[in-house]
Amino acid sequence: MTETALDRARLYQGELSAIRRDIHAHPELGLEEYRTADLVAQKLEEWGIEVHRGVGKTGVVGVLRNGNGQASVGLRADMDALPILEATGLPHASQNPGRMHACGHDGHTTMLLGAAKYLAETRNFNGTVNFIFQPAEEGTGGALEMLKDGLFERFPCNAVYGMHNRPGLPVGKFITGPSTRSAGGAFFDIVITGKGAHGAHPHQSVDPIVVACHLGTALQSIVSRNISAQDTAVLSITRIQSGDAYNVIPQSAVMAGTVRTMKTETMQTIEANMRRLATSLAAGFGAEATVDFRVIFAPMVNDTNEAIAYGDAASELVGEGAVRRDGPPGMGSEDFSFMMEQVPGAHINLGNGDSAALHNHLYDFNDEAIPYGVALYAAITEKKLPKFSPD
Ligand code: NI
Repeated sequence: MTETALDRARLYQGELSAIRRDIHAHPELGLEEYRTADLVAQKLEEWGIEVHRGVGKTGVVGVLRNGNGQASVGLRADMDALPILEATGLPHASQNPGRMHACGHDGHTTMLLGAAKYLAETRNFNGTVNFIFQPAEEGTGGALEMLKDGLFERFPCNAVYGMHNRPGLPVGKFITGPSTRSAGGAFFDIVITGKGAHGAHPHQSVDPIVVACHLGTALQSIVSRNISAQDTAVLSITRIQSGDAYNVIPQSAVMAGTVRTMKTETMQTIEANMRRLATSLAAGFGAEATVDFRVIFAPMVNDTNEAIAYGDAASELVGEGAVRRDGPPGMGSEDFSFMMEQVPGAHINLGNGDSAALHNHLYDFNDEAIPYGVALYAAITEKKLPKFSPD
């Protein structure tokens, strides 16, 4: 029997699990992935792959060419961790307190490394593969940093492919979809400036806390009153901070949160309404409000043909029954979206089995999923850059 991509990827299990656990034990926040980038570069070099450092600050791109083909693909993974105190108690738990690979980017980085090793050894393709190790996916702008550094001008790609693990989906199963896969996301900060006074003499104040309370309620009207019921949006205020004492009305209050939408226009509608409500409501109370609204993620939209090709590659590995091709879009966000705005591509979720949720302090990437990710990255490359057999 001939060796399948999955068989071969399984041969790397021990080596790759060790790499994954090493990265897990040494998590680094976005744009600080120095050790992780060193490790990635060292492994790529070890396997004879051309390495480019500092693409988007801590980003790394590996380039592997084979044959005389002009076509190229980009395979992308993210490398950053989160500001979470890990509570798994595992032997490979974080050694950096307050830093944790709670989204499985340790696994994603490892799977892309595995694919690089696989393709460097087998070379069953004709063209160029760009291995894109992206920093700072967790809302700190890593994809945009790489694009700003000329990612696709320096490393042209006809198509790009990304993946993310999914807790609750059995290992060996995949979910993708033909168009929108995840929401666009924005972060906002609102600063309300009033006038401080003694807590016993509120008439001498312009109380920013009262303004913040009203504004918190008023902002909830945007999704329910300004967005069509057939459209989708989330607006969450996740922080309100003000005051230091029982008897002091503070000078200011700050509010922060996130907005998620499936369409760029919906995001623009929410921003406009937030600005109007914040400034006019504050003015109504005699206070002032400033709004800083930053779009961090574009909606992530698969190219229909690339999603079919990616789904076909997955199906050839695990069988059509283990691949869902019409998965509904999620409200989470993924900044791979910005790469897919420039180059057609597709994103897929791979099963992480029965693990804790993403961004939970008990989460761990499932090492059993590694061969599936490795094999899929390799399979889509071989599918898109076919090597013609001599006969
Ligand atoms: Ni993630």
